[in-house]
Amino acid sequence: MNDSTDQRRPETVPVTKAVVPAAGLGTRFLPATKATPKEMLPIVDKPAIQYVVEEAVAADLHDVLMITGRSKRSIEDHFDRAYELEEALEAKGDEERLRSVRESSDLAQMHYVRQGEPRGLGHAVLCAKAHVGDNPFAVLLGDDLIDSADLLRRMIQVREEYGGSVVALMEVEPEQVSLYGCAGIEPTDEDDVVTVTDLVEKPDPEQAPSRWAIIGRYVCDPAIFPVLQETPPGRGGEIQLTDALRELTRYKPEDGGTVRGVLFRGRRYDTGNRADYIRTVVDFAFRRPELAAELLPWMREFVDRRGSGRP
Ligand code: G1P
Repeated sequence: MNDSTDQRRPETVPVTKAVVPAAGLGTRFLPATKATPKEMLPIVDKPAIQYVVEEAVAADLHDVLMITGRSKRSIEDHFDRAYELEEALEAKGDEERLRSVRESSDLAQMHYVRQGEPRGLGHAVLCAKAHVGDNPFAVLLGDDLIDSADLLRRMIQVREEYGGSVVALMEVEPEQVSLYGCAGIEPTDEDDVVTVTDLVEKPDPEQAPSRWAIIGRYVCDPAIFPVLQETPPGRGGEIQLTDALRELTRYKPEDGGTVRGVLFRGRRYDTGNRADYIRTVVDFAFRRPELAAELLPWMREFVDRRGSGRP
């Protein structure tokens, strides 16, 4: 018997674990991602995946399971101690860099499991089953950066209030719905919470149940695992998390059913394609006062020059 299969109502089992799928091939960034995981691409001076782990920790999820695959060793190294480097920095008395190097290894209790075959996000999440057991858990997708843990905290609160699973939803332009999992929704008594009645992975705009798109944050009831096991390949021939969650919308609450959505109106950064990645890097760079001061005059001049067609 798992230690959490006690007599408590399921929603009172606290969420303490985060699952971070990081097995994707990163083909949109080739050749940069030929030997480097896309999750390790820097946003200024920190790899993208570190922001995601920091967000989980800020929402009090200190146990992080990363779903990795081939050529992802550097992710494990990044969250591990680097003794040689630390000794060298210590010898130089470079306290600031030493702190930055230690930060990632002290962040969370990291665990890793390999996906083996790239069979989709749903399959990646299924790989977390042995680690997660009968507990609810969060899923954070690395392509989405959300620079505050408020959303995830609110989602955990909603899970604790209603049970079931919770997805983060953001309103997107109609022509963008085909890039996301899209939700049919009904209001609840709370402004920022909806009941999810339907979910479609990457629908054609005319078939989308709404313009509310799933962004890469989920809190899943463990009832998702048996459903994922039975979920056939969907969009793109992959096992989709969206399809398994849609199935859960049809389950009774006592069977781990019901899916709620938390409506997110804050800022989300997409690092999944080149243009959005560059936008994210620039935005994050401008938050650093020392970099902003150096970059702003250059950027003004650059925009003037390129805007008037000069090379
Ligand atoms: C995944 C999910 C999709 C979700 C999106 C959020 O798609 O399958 O439902 O809306 O993440 O970023 P991906 O972008 O990995 O193709």
